[in-house]
Amino acid sequence: MFKINPDNFKKASFWTIILVYLVIVAGGVVRCTSSGMGCPDWPKCFGKWIPPTQISELPANYVEIYSKGGHLSVEFNVIKTWTEYINRLIGVAIGFAIFLTLIYSISYLKSKKSIFWLSFISFILVGFQGWLGSKVVSSNLLPFMVSIHMIVALIIVCLLLYSFSLTNILKIKVDRNLKFIFLITAFATLIQILLGTQVRQNIDVIAKSMNYENRNLWIENLGNIFVSHRLFAYIIVFLNVFLIYKCHKIGLNFIRNSLTVIIALEITSGLILTYFNFPSLFQPVHLVLGTMSFGTLFYYYTTFEEN
Ligand code: HEM
Repeated sequence: MFKINPDNFKKASFWTIILVYLVIVAGGVVRCTSSGMGCPDWPKCFGKWIPPTQISELPANYVEIYSKGGHLSVEFNVIKTWTEYINRLIGVAIGFAIFLTLIYSISYLKSKKSIFWLSFISFILVGFQGWLGSKVVSSNLLPFMVSIHMIVALIIVCLLLYSFSLTNILKIKVDRNLKFIFLITAFATLIQILLGTQVRQNIDVIAKSMNYENRNLWIENLGNIFVSHRLFAYIIVFLNVFLIYKCHKIGLNFIRNSLTVIIALEITSGLILTYFNFPSLFQPVHLVLGTMSFGTLFYYYTTFEEN
């Protein structure tokens, strides 16, 4: 029997946030290795809870069986199958972690009701996200569905970060305008992430049409959405530099350093993708840094108290 105490809530919600970020990385790896169809069914994988490691474990007519779900390219590839399966396992771990978070949040029902309700909504959303995941697979990874899946993940991150920050007794006192600019920058970053997912959708179409070869030509074929993503990056950089400067001036060195590192790495990974033939490793890197940038800005915003 576990004890319901506030410290347990902090631990559980912290680990849920880490797992949500891990699943974003895993999702990115699944996409850049084209492993999404590594498991053609859901929630089982090739009809099993623990997927096969060899083709001999599958029925001879497995292509026929699993093509019935409308999937055009059913083919067993052990690496792809297990990449997708690990992604799903992290999803299951999130299910357990958010359940514990909800249970532990009961300890705040009297003192800070909002913590319980935020945890409750996160819990429901995680369930919804699991259901959406099944729809993403059955839609054959329809780009629009993939983007919605991403937005829901970010909403969950925000709810968890917010409830986590509500447990902080000590708040950082800052000027009202500075707090507001943190919010604006987080919002602008969210827009940039959404533009990025559109770029990504185009990339997926182009890559497929080129048989996943000639990576150096993918960028050239991107349309206006990429131009917008690149231009919007200037606004994001400007806002971040402004915040970094302000934090430097008032001695918030940790915040200054974390913002600097994340934005510098995010821009560098975007530039590497664009000018160095689109190395696949940098796809999940760029994605996860973008979402980290958003999460960090949002978290700092919630921990600030107006002077
Ligand atoms: C300034 C902050 C930026 C943020 C927050 C950001 C965020 C994102 C996100 C979330 C994606 C979608 C990734 C995915 O769905 O897998 C993306 C895609 C992309 N971004 Fe950025 N980005 C930024 C700046 C840049 C810059 C400066 C460049 C290049 C000049 C760039 C180039 C790209 C490219 C090429 C893609 C497509 C990657 C893929 O298909 O995997 N980004 N961006």
